[in-house]
Amino acid sequence: MKILAIESSCDETAAAVVESSSAFGGKILSNVISSQIEIHAQYGGVVPEVAARSHIEVIIPVIEQALGDAGCNWDDIDAIATTKGPGLIGSLLIGVLTAKTLAETKNKPLIGVNHIFAHGFAAFLTDNQPNFPFLALTVSGGHTTLSLYKQDLSREIIGETLDDAAGEAFDKVAKLLGLTYPGGPAIGKAAENGDPNKYKFPVAKLGHDSLDFSFSGLKTAVLRQVQSITGFNPGSNDLKKTYELSSQDVADIAASFQRAVISSLLANTLKANLRFKPKGIVVGGGVACNTELRNEMLKVLPNAIFVPPVLCTDNAAMIGSLALQMAKNDMYTPVASLSADSSLETI
Ligand code: KG4
Ligand code: ZN
Repeated sequence: MKILAIESSCDETAAAVVESSSAFGGKILSNVISSQIEIHAQYGGVVPEVAARSHIEVIIPVIEQALGDAGCNWDDIDAIATTKGPGLIGSLLIGVLTAKTLAETKNKPLIGVNHIFAHGFAAFLTDNQPNFPFLALTVSGGHTTLSLYKQDLSREIIGETLDDAAGEAFDKVAKLLGLTYPGGPAIGKAAENGDPNKYKFPVAKLGHDSLDFSFSGLKTAVLRQVQSITGFNPGSNDLKKTYELSSQDVADIAASFQRAVISSLLANTLKANLRFKPKGIVVGGGVACNTELRNEMLKVLPNAIFVPPVLCTDNAAMIGSLALQMAKNDMYTPVASLSADSSLETI
């Protein structure tokens, strides 16, 4: 079975062709990603209106390239899958409407996919595939979620962020430090020259039994540190940088902040691993590209699976990977009932 998958939930317009290869495995025949990072970098973050308009401009060429790279034409495609949520509503709508139109005109069945659930399924596109039930830590710009993935394609959310997502905290702190968007890679790079023990930023402790996360206090602590170094008082919500930090200050704050985020992610993943004894652990989402997170987690959980960076950040191959399993379980979506849902919680 071959699926053409579409992803447009945030600021990447992506299309991929994936083919089923084993019980849960999938083979990537093409994986095209058109990033809007350069467009949004000038605003210091994703501007939803601009994102939606950019998706409209490139989505058809991206799909055509995915088919071409895979050496396929429409006759070779068995189904069309698209992200239906969660994400930015304007962005989601472009992918959903394109997929619905193609399903009608090319006469293909349609599968609506949950973006966050799909992040964990990226692992089935690699040689290192987890066994069920497995624990997935999904850390992205919009979500920080610990879930248990079960063989029957259900997912139990066991921990979530109560405020900012981990990637969002990286992006906001980067802005505060005058680093480029997206903040994660910029902070990771700056942290290489910094002392992670220089500042003791707080890691939210939400109770012994909780597997939830909170990063807003950490962000505020970084702001206070910047204020105490520079004497500047921008107000807690004004992250406009009109002050100077030395490059060593930036490096030390970046390293200390990164250390705090990682210790929070590690603490809850370890706790969940002990409590649920899963058969595997998959770490995905953009923040899983972070080298320090990979190194630290593999020290304590050597069986953790980190998918390659191109499958961590948003891509359509992961949407196709989950859609292959949904197709096997006959979980198709009638064209008329597929709609975008910005806060989708169900599969
Ligand atoms: O999964 P993703 O591509 O998009 C969403 O679904 O949100 O994740 C993007 C997020 C951004 O917040 C970005 O700053 C973060 O992932 N990110 C990183 C790294 N690379 C990307 N965070 C930390 N370290 C990185 N190397
Ligand atoms: Zn994502």
